[in-house]
Amino acid sequence: MTRIPHETSGEPNPLQALTLDRLRQRTSMKWRTYPEDVLPLWVAEMDVPLADAVVRAVTDALHLGDTGYPAGTAYAEALAAFAGKRWGWGGLAVERTAIVPDVMLGVVEMIKLVTGPGDTVVVNSPVYPPFYMFLEHMDRRVAEAPLGADGRLDLGVLEETFRQAVADGRRAAHLLCSPHNPTGTVHTAEELSAVAGLAERYGVRVVADEIHAPLVLGDAPFVPYLSVPGAERGLSLMSASKGWNLPGLKAALAIAGPGAAADLERMPEEVGHGPSHVAVIAHTAALRDGVTWLDALLTGLEGNRRLLADLLAEHLPAIRYQPGDATYLAWLDCRALDLGDDPAEVFLERGRVALSSGLPFGTGGTGHVRLNLGTSQEVLTEGVRRMAAALR
Ligand SMILES: Cc1ncc(COP(=O)(O)O)c(C=O)c1O
Repeated sequence: MTRIPHETSGEPNPLQALTLDRLRQRTSMKWRTYPEDVLPLWVAEMDVPLADAVVRAVTDALHLGDTGYPAGTAYAEALAAFAGKRWGWGGLAVERTAIVPDVMLGVVEMIKLVTGPGDTVVVNSPVYPPFYMFLEHMDRRVAEAPLGADGRLDLGVLEETFRQAVADGRRAAHLLCSPHNPTGTVHTAEELSAVAGLAERYGVRVVADEIHAPLVLGDAPFVPYLSVPGAERGLSLMSASKGWNLPGLKAALAIAGPGAAADLERMPEEVGHGPSHVAVIAHTAALRDGVTWLDALLTGLEGNRRLLADLLAEHLPAIRYQPGDATYLAWLDCRALDLGDDPAEVFLERGRVALSSGLPFGTGGTGHVRLNLGTSQEVLTEGVRRMAAALR
């Protein structure tokens, strides 16, 4: 799989475009959950203005009154072209895709296609907390196959968890987070092939949440799960939501491997009524015309990862931070600080900085926090200053 290097263009770093005063005018979850004196570095929203291509497409739609129901395959076509150019993956077949309301509701629908109530879904903890919430809400049993100490998939543990999941003859699925939230781990082609091999051996169906795929920062290439040999019966969810900061414009795509096409066809038609047409327009424009913006963002995020590592080394050397190659999230091991199970609470109360608690991320989350790097260098610096001040 070839990786096309980020182009350097005249596009300014979108992370440096907005002042804190301007950001505080936002009314979304990141900005309205805590009081004004708290610096929010938690939920996965980025402090960026939107790509011009997205603003233009949405504004044109609004001027035209193009606010009806979604139709056609433009989103899937834009994603297929992006996947081909970005990841060298020519296997995204538009006819094996369906629009879904967002990634998590897409995950729910894919899991429903391949398992029933009471069946097990395997997750790799620590992992994005809604995985637990949504799966439990749909009466699936969640089984954890924790990541190894290196933050990578532990294939031995995964195999044993698969074996137990199907031991009583029930169906099972593996909800794979790729790249992984919160560690930023980019799974390699070898790891993903091994997952596919195990899944086939045990009859476990893989559903890959690949929402963070456009946000691969380092030298590790993103490998689409459905591109690896043996993954033909897999299902994937992709979206422009994280890469271009569009969670308020809800839409996503479900993609089936050739061996899962019949499953996807069983998805009820009404699921496709959920995504917003304007969101589909926004996501399509992002993937088609927002790549220069994305590259400028990734360059900015690379700088922020280096800055965070430097700031922690200087002010909070006891925190362990192994930067991942993807996402704008940093997973911080604070156990050496002796702040108890939930250091986020201490940083919030004493430092007035909001981070995500590691606890709801499942096994491996105790004593950890997740910090959102998708902000300016000034805000990031102030965030670490507040964390350090909380310890004085
Ligand atoms: C791994 C993962 N999946 C899904 C989502 C949510 O996506 P959506 O808003 O499209 O449901 C997020 C949001 O941060 C995420 O990190």
